[in-house]
Amino acid sequence: MEGVVVMFFMLGISLSHLVTGNAQDYFDVGKFGAVGDGNTDDSPAFLKAWQAVCGASGENATLEIAANRTFLLYPVQFNGPCKPRYIHIKVLGKILAPSVDERGKFKYDDCWLCFKHVDGLIVDGPGQIDGNGTTWWTEVPISERPTALHFHLCTDLRLHGLTHLNSQKNHISIYNCSGVLISDLNIIAPSDSPNTDGIDIALSSQLLISNTFIGTGDDCVAINGGTSNINITSVTCGPGHGISIGSLGEGETNENVDQVHVTGCTFNRTMNGARIKTIPGGTGFARDISFEEITLIASGNPIVIDQHYCNGHGHHCQDQEKAIAVSNVTFRGFRGTSAAVEAINLDCSKQGCRGITIDNINISSSVGKDLRVVCNNAYGTTASTVPEVSCLSS
Ligand SMILES: *[C@@H]1O[C@H](CO)[C@@H](O)[C@H](O)[C@H]1NC(C)=O
Ligand SMILES: *[C@@H]1O[C@H](CO)[C@@H](O)[C@H](O)[C@H]1NC(C)=O
Ligand SMILES: *[C@@H]1O[C@H](CO)[C@@H](O)[C@H](O)[C@H]1NC(C)=O
Ligand SMILES: *[C@@H]1O[C@H](CO)[C@@H](O)[C@H](O)[C@H]1NC(C)=O
Ligand SMILES: *[C@@H]1O[C@H](CO)[C@@H](O)[C@H](O)[C@H]1NC(C)=O
Ligand SMILES: *[C@@H]1O[C@H](CO)[C@@H](O)[C@H](O)[C@H]1NC(C)=O
Ligand SMILES: *[C@@H]1O[C@H](CO)[C@@H](O)[C@H](O)[C@H]1NC(C)=O
Ligand SMILES: *[C@@H]1O[C@H](CO)[C@@H](O)[C@H](O)[C@H]1NC(C)=O
Repeated sequence: MEGVVVMFFMLGISLSHLVTGNAQDYFDVGKFGAVGDGNTDDSPAFLKAWQAVCGASGENATLEIAANRTFLLYPVQFNGPCKPRYIHIKVLGKILAPSVDERGKFKYDDCWLCFKHVDGLIVDGPGQIDGNGTTWWTEVPISERPTALHFHLCTDLRLHGLTHLNSQKNHISIYNCSGVLISDLNIIAPSDSPNTDGIDIALSSQLLISNTFIGTGDDCVAINGGTSNINITSVTCGPGHGISIGSLGEGETNENVDQVHVTGCTFNRTMNGARIKTIPGGTGFARDISFEEITLIASGNPIVIDQHYCNGHGHHCQDQEKAIAVSNVTFRGFRGTSAAVEAINLDCSKQGCRGITIDNINISSSVGKDLRVVCNNAYGTTASTVPEVSCLSS
């Protein structure tokens, strides 16, 4: 062993380089002129640093965002494809968005930190991404507010450990990606902040979210069309609107969702719990979906299938000739309390929901009321449920 060390020493290679990778594949945003005082626009420096890391020659390249500093960033597009197999962004400090007064300088309306075509990206660290949303929420309509962190066209994405605060609109959006691991995030915004979804997923497959806290003003996780093989485990949700599939089928579109498994999650004072929502007139399917081992703490509407959803046009939309086909949906092992009188609402289209399984449920009222179960055109089986589900047709 000693001989080996001496040999490396003689070749002029330091041991620390062997351990941490090649020095030329390690980039600190500070070296590219980022100041991190919370006032200077550090976006040009971040873009220069990105060009260096994206073009690095090693298998792995790392970009470090220093601790104890606040980097003010205007919208930045981090584009690939990149040369390294893996790009590791270590966020130790804070990334801050400008307040709404500066929105004239926003070049891209739909996202603030935008990653496109980057494969093998790892974003981790104890740092924070702060959308500075307070001023945006009151002054700007949703169509003019950006997603804070957007990943478009990616494979092999990992997000771990960061705290995401007060996004202008939704916090994280995953669009047209496959192979995504998300864990140990904290996503936090006030319960009355508008449209501040935690994680939105669309056109993506093979995604796992685990051990994550999401307390915001809208859906904790929203799973939209074109998704399959999505697992969500050990997520604590609340405040927020729950974990939603959909809405699907807006504007008579064809959208599919399958193999979504939500296990071991908690809904703590959320507006809804486990929810599937489709808009009349759409085509496609939502199938092979399960919600299991769910803890409810004064959750509103713990179990909902709403096939009469109408985005922005009130509720209870009329059935149309076409509807998204909802099938093979399991709700199992829900325990705790509901703040709403309707604990279970399976409001299917006239075409019906097939293969619904509801078992091992024990929900009581958090406000001492009798709970109700409502079904419309719902077919399936049930066992061991409190309240009793007698309206499901076999
Ligand atoms: C590159 O990073 C990946 C992902 O973290 C890791 O599995 C792999 O061992 C790293 N390779 C090298 C040469 O450090
Ligand atoms: C950041 O601040 C903490 C607490 O003040 C300190 O322990 C740590 O060494 C600092 N880190 C850096 C890289 O300056
Ligand atoms: C929002 O950004 C502005 C800079 O544009 C900054 O002065 C302000 O402190 C930020 N607010 C928060 C809560 O960080
Ligand atoms: C999704 O990505 C694939 C390539 O990976 C592309 O062919 C397809 O058009 C993309 N779909 C959308 C809606 O962007
Ligand atoms: C999701 O869970 C299912 C069933 O446990 C498993 O077969 C599948 O591989 C998991 N997928 C991901 C992306 O974690
Ligand atoms: C539920 O949320 C309340 C705040 O609304 C918090 O005090 C409590 O610790 C949370 N419970 C769990 C189990 O997370
Ligand atoms: C529902 O699940 C059963 C058993 O797993 C399977 O045979 C059937 O094809 C599924 N149907 C649909 C429409 O997903
Ligand atoms: C349902 O939960 C309540 C409160 O935890 C408990 O007292 C009751 O025995 C449970 N009922 C069933 C059927 O498990």
